[in-house]
Amino acid sequence: MGRGKIFMLVTLVLFAAGCTTGGTGEQSGNAGSAGGGGGAATARKKKGPNEQIFIGFLMDTLKEERWQRDKELVERRAKEVGARLSVQVANGIDSEQIKQAENLLSQKVDVLIVAPHNGEIAATIVEMAHREGVPVISYDRMIRNADVDLYLSHQVVRMGEMQARYLLERAPKGNYIIVQGAPTDNNARLLHDGQMNVLKPAVERGDIKIVVDQPAKEWSPKEALNIVENALTLANNNVVAVLAANDGTAGGAVEALAAQNLAGKVLVTGQDAELPALQSIVQGKQTMTIYKPLQPLAYGAVDSALKLARGETVQTNDTVDNGKKKVPSMLYEPQSVDINNLVATVVKDGYQTLEKICEKVPAGQCPKADAAATTTAPQ
Ligand code: BGC
Repeated sequence: MGRGKIFMLVTLVLFAAGCTTGGTGEQSGNAGSAGGGGGAATARKKKGPNEQIFIGFLMDTLKEERWQRDKELVERRAKEVGARLSVQVANGIDSEQIKQAENLLSQKVDVLIVAPHNGEIAATIVEMAHREGVPVISYDRMIRNADVDLYLSHQVVRMGEMQARYLLERAPKGNYIIVQGAPTDNNARLLHDGQMNVLKPAVERGDIKIVVDQPAKEWSPKEALNIVENALTLANNNVVAVLAANDGTAGGAVEALAAQNLAGKVLVTGQDAELPALQSIVQGKQTMTIYKPLQPLAYGAVDSALKLARGETVQTNDTVDNGKKKVPSMLYEPQSVDINNLVATVVKDGYQTLEKICEKVPAGQCPKADAAATTTAPQ
């Protein structure tokens, strides 16, 4: 496909995206399976049990720490199972992601794992792949309005509920600021749905007031800083909680709070259990984060890729509506993490070390290494 054609496709998909309403991809509770034939527009390519599988992993970004881990884990697993792997990173550029897909397809890739930059535009990638009989796994973020073969992620709606519940239990009354994730990312919508499931009754009772509720483009910490700065001005600094969508935006929120001497006095959520966020938690600035174990996701993606490429069935535990179909899905459990259980969760799992988490605080402020035995997870 030439540049002109790619541009036309992107334009068309953008137009379609603009026309789409509703259907954010609700998570339902149906276990099932993916693969084993159907789905693709053209007859599926099928590899024999002893043939090497060529996997393409199309990533949006490596900006956040978590994506660097995803990349390493996918590479490690591919090596372990003897698959050939090509990882491509689009750095937030949709036309680049489509071009990378096109290149991999021309190199006769057997299966694509896609973490889309824009969940609507990436539907083009699914169409292109299916024309070549190549199955597509939507990784962490859903590709919307497309015939996706399999979706692997965490329970995103539940994560939003966990963040909101955490805040509501500790700050049942007062002004809240919501900093959403990128509007191009279906996860941002699911997260917000979950948050509102919990907050709506409290808003209706008049217990809490959401003073600002805005998306941070590209999940940008700088955008989050601006949103929180403006919201604080609007509310005369009278705010009890910031519902920040992930750790990057939480960092921006904490910076804006610090400028008003409010860091540590206002609750701040996050997501990803990134090292700077955990350091901020032990410093008392960020309040909580959501830990999403990445190994099951990354290994699950590689293992499922092999199965799909061989025409085998993949066991799933859910389905998620992406606007076009109920996509067979494997959704993993997230965990709520704060100062009381970080040792029992992220440290115990080897995701981060206590030494690094406590690098910036005096020893007395660091949670005890043996806390794993005594603490329980917060709700
Ligand atoms: C991921 C988060 C990540 C965010 C920004 C989301 O789709 O689920 O883990 O922080 O994108 O990259």
